[in-house]
Amino acid sequence: MYNLLKGKKGIIFGALNEDSIAWKVAERAHEEGASFVLTNAPIAMRMGAINELAEKTGSKIIPADATSMEDLEKLVTESMEILGGKIDFVLHSIGMSINVRKGKHYTDSNYDFTHKGFDVSALSFHRVMNVLYNKKAMNEWGSVVALTYMAAQRVFPDYNDMADNKAYLESIARSFGYFFGRDHKVRVNTISQSPTPTTAGSGVKGFEGFLSYADKMSPLGNATALDCADYTITLFSDLTRKVTLQNLFHDGGFSNMGVSDVIMENFMGEEE
Ligand SMILES: NC(=O)c1ccc[n+]([C@@H]2O[C@H](COP(=O)([O-])OP(=O)(O)OC[C@H]3O[C@@H](n4cnc5c(N)ncnc54)[C@H](O)[C@@H]3O)[C@@H](O)[C@H]2O)c1
Repeated sequence: MYNLLKGKKGIIFGALNEDSIAWKVAERAHEEGASFVLTNAPIAMRMGAINELAEKTGSKIIPADATSMEDLEKLVTESMEILGGKIDFVLHSIGMSINVRKGKHYTDSNYDFTHKGFDVSALSFHRVMNVLYNKKAMNEWGSVVALTYMAAQRVFPDYNDMADNKAYLESIARSFGYFFGRDHKVRVNTISQSPTPTTAGSGVKGFEGFLSYADKMSPLGNATALDCADYTITLFSDLTRKVTLQNLFHDGGFSNMGVSDVIMENFMGEEE
């Protein structure tokens, strides 16, 4: 370990169970010397696993629905009290599509589901930053990171309305990041992560096949949740202070590939 986050204070959204990317980020942040508050939707608390993570990392838990301004205001105020000062890093690791969950095809969306998924997966990022910004809750050179997926730029048919939510999320990072940087010297970035076997990820139709396709396309193979946590830690650290307004691909090289030898092998027939 490198003590990269020694003395830093944070808020980590989205640790549901030990597969969650946020869970790995919390473990790594703890190892690097940070203290932080864990938060998740009240309904996710019922699973109970987050208590184990809190114990392991010496953290407090504050339930908050990321679509509720009231909850978020309480979360940020109480976090500053618990941590004894302003915040240095925030992880937004939240995603949910009811259309995906209920198997509604993209061409036949249920728009109530679409609204809800958009509120949870995309607008929540604006809400979180709104509260942090207006409460002047972030220290200078603080860092805010949200997780995203490449379906924001390219077509992945089964990613459904999450593709649109991620496009909006990435845009918020730039738009809010401008004001946060200009006014408070806070940086805002999104990490575009490989497909990862988590509760949210596995909900996408055909996920297993897609996971191995991405793995075979990427020269370095898929990035795991732990790899993602390591990358996130660098963005919370002082080593990346001038990185902001970026969507950063963390995918073993997938995003710049056209085709790989391994994938081509499946299509090479008689001519060989
Ligand atoms: N798993 C993948 O393949 C993959 C790939 C790229 C990006 N991502 C993104 O990574 C992030 C984390 O997802 P994950 O894969 O670790 O899955 P996960 O299911 O472990 O995490 C999703 C989290 O969102 C939380 N959440 C849902 N509704 C909420 C609400 N109203 N308020 C607060 N929290 C709420 C859930 O409780 C859960 O903890 C998401 O933004 C996801 O889209 C995932």
